[in-house]
Amino acid sequence: MNKTLILIILFVYSCKPEISNNIVVTSPDDKIQVELKLDQGMPQYAIQVDDKKLLKSSALGYRFRDQPDLVGPFQLVNSNTEMIEEDWEPVWGQEKSINSLSRMIKLELRERLVPHRQLNLYFRVFNDGVAFRYEIPKQVGLDSLFIIEELSEFRFARDGKSWWIPGSHAFDSYEQLHKVSRLSEIDSANTPLTYITEDDLYISIHEANLTDYAGMTLKRSRSDSLNFLSNLVPWPDGDRVKTSAPMRSPWRTICIGRSATDLLRSRMILNLNEPNQLSDVSWIKPMKYVGIWWGMHINKYTWVQGDQHGATTENVMSYIDFASEHDIQGVLAEGWNKGWEAWGQEGALQLTEAYDDFDIGAVVEYAKVKNVTFIGHHETTANVAAYEHQLESAFAYYDSLDISAIKTGYVGAIKPSGQFHYGQWMVEHFRRVVQLAASHRISLDVHEPVKGTGIERTWPNMMTREGARGQEWNAWSEGNPPDHTTILPFTRLLAGPMDYTPGIFDIRFDRYKPDNKIHSTLAKQLALMVVLYSPLQMAADLPENYENQPAFQFIQDLEVDWDETLYLEGEIGKYVTIARRHGSEWFLGAITNDEARELEIAMDQMVRGDQVAECYVDTEDAHWDNNPYPIWIGSYKVSPSDTLKARLAPGGGMAIRLRPLTEEEMGQKLVSISDLRQDQEARE
Ligand code: NOJ
Ligand code: CA
Repeated sequence: MNKTLILIILFVYSCKPEISNNIVVTSPDDKIQVELKLDQGMPQYAIQVDDKKLLKSSALGYRFRDQPDLVGPFQLVNSNTEMIEEDWEPVWGQEKSINSLSRMIKLELRERLVPHRQLNLYFRVFNDGVAFRYEIPKQVGLDSLFIIEELSEFRFARDGKSWWIPGSHAFDSYEQLHKVSRLSEIDSANTPLTYITEDDLYISIHEANLTDYAGMTLKRSRSDSLNFLSNLVPWPDGDRVKTSAPMRSPWRTICIGRSATDLLRSRMILNLNEPNQLSDVSWIKPMKYVGIWWGMHINKYTWVQGDQHGATTENVMSYIDFASEHDIQGVLAEGWNKGWEAWGQEGALQLTEAYDDFDIGAVVEYAKVKNVTFIGHHETTANVAAYEHQLESAFAYYDSLDISAIKTGYVGAIKPSGQFHYGQWMVEHFRRVVQLAASHRISLDVHEPVKGTGIERTWPNMMTREGARGQEWNAWSEGNPPDHTTILPFTRLLAGPMDYTPGIFDIRFDRYKPDNKIHSTLAKQLALMVVLYSPLQMAADLPENYENQPAFQFIQDLEVDWDETLYLEGEIGKYVTIARRHGSEWFLGAITNDEARELEIAMDQMVRGDQVAECYVDTEDAHWDNNPYPIWIGSYKVSPSDTLKARLAPGGGMAIRLRPLTEEEMGQKLVSISDLRQDQEARE
């Protein structure tokens, strides 16, 4: 895919204001103002949106292990402001072209007192939010830096309702249900942290371009319940970041919207990352995939070789047959390699040795003939020290087999012990793997990852990741309640694509696990494939549960790489409707929490001329808990002037494929979309 980059610097100016002067930097549309000042030499920033105060004066700075805090008093040596505009094309994504427009200021500060250390601050003000980062330039006497605290504050002016997962007790797992509380009741949180202010601003705090640094969590200040402090994930010795000058921190981001869907539209995180580093991207392929996966989670198969082994040559070949017959481009196999029987034991992982009943060479050849991508797997059991030893050989092995995509996993506590999944050591490990994979032309789907911060712009082989409670939790826990997937788009998914693994048709899987089930209707499982964006999108169920199921046609037809995306409506934790275009077709997904919902969508946003809508929607009596299967499937004619009306069941959803009329259909009289609502009712 070709990539163009137009960088227009509209203007640059320098100034040296008096120390006491405030500098105001506004967004290109002037609606967001960032006020910067040195308060008695201490740097502070505040944010105002639509004339409402969002953040009160908030402090900035660093605390080091072996030298004085870098907090001031400073003098302003220089400042530059520039408007930056860029249009760029992602290798894959939710749209073909992305615009980035922001005003950026660089403040060059120097301590007033000896040793006169220098600190640069960058602020970028977009129409959809504010970002800032620190830079410690190279300077005499500052080589190694051991950061024990980043002193960034986020002092919110108003309380509000927030959606979050705990932070500082969970440097190791994002796989939690979101808590919903007042902002002021949060003790610590991972990011993205999303909240609606009392004056109706939609805010998400996160970070962009997490490179050579520790992940940021937030903790509430003891003295001010609306003040949140950056709390970096530590090393075993308590240091947060071990680095040297020059160094740049990730961007701290405050995404700002006037509606929930504004948050979904924002591309600020991607825009704050460096351009694509890979010249040849022909091997990076968005795709749908199936896999030897759900079968293990519901105990049909085992990872370990034995009677029930999932990843046998024969079984994986049958999945490949299924994929090639149904327009699915990839097949994942977990449990293909030796070592699963010794889970957790030192040296158990054998990432270059297949189980005896799995002929990996033959499988890969078979996949090639069938035009299917075989997706490899590295489970590390979080023994990263051991994984690092095998890394080169494990990737070279897959490369020698011409495997171009793999899933990795980091279940459990990190070894060496004391390291956390989200600390600097792991951030660096994850990046090393992305770069090594790129050098072998391999794309990645990472489970138990560090959060996304937009690095897929720079490394587009970093395609998708887990990093939240995915579908697997429905297989072996009390499950994900119906509102979970109506929260994820507004929280976790703001960080980037997610491998949720939707598309389970056998909602109750009673044959395998009568005490567990999926907490949604079947139609909602289809809708999730559109709503939860992932360029590697899994149709997670067993092939036998898709065979002869009319609803599977939607998955078969579904695209996963998009020219354009419309966020039609949404409220956090309640409902969301998203439409995505690929060529001349649109795919629409609408989901609701455990409340039924009457949906009305004006079709002129998507439809030009007459088209056909293939609808997959809950019947009138469907219910996630006691009647999850009934689905109404019908094709209708749609014109731009139509309004689509449908009812989503409690815990339900709707999926639509909108396509041009075939020649045959042009001569026929098709039922109008206005009949959909009554057709749903008739099926009660
Ligand atoms: C946890 C991952 O999320 C899941 O997808 C995988 O099947 C298991 N680990 C085993 O690797
Ligand atoms: Ca997981």
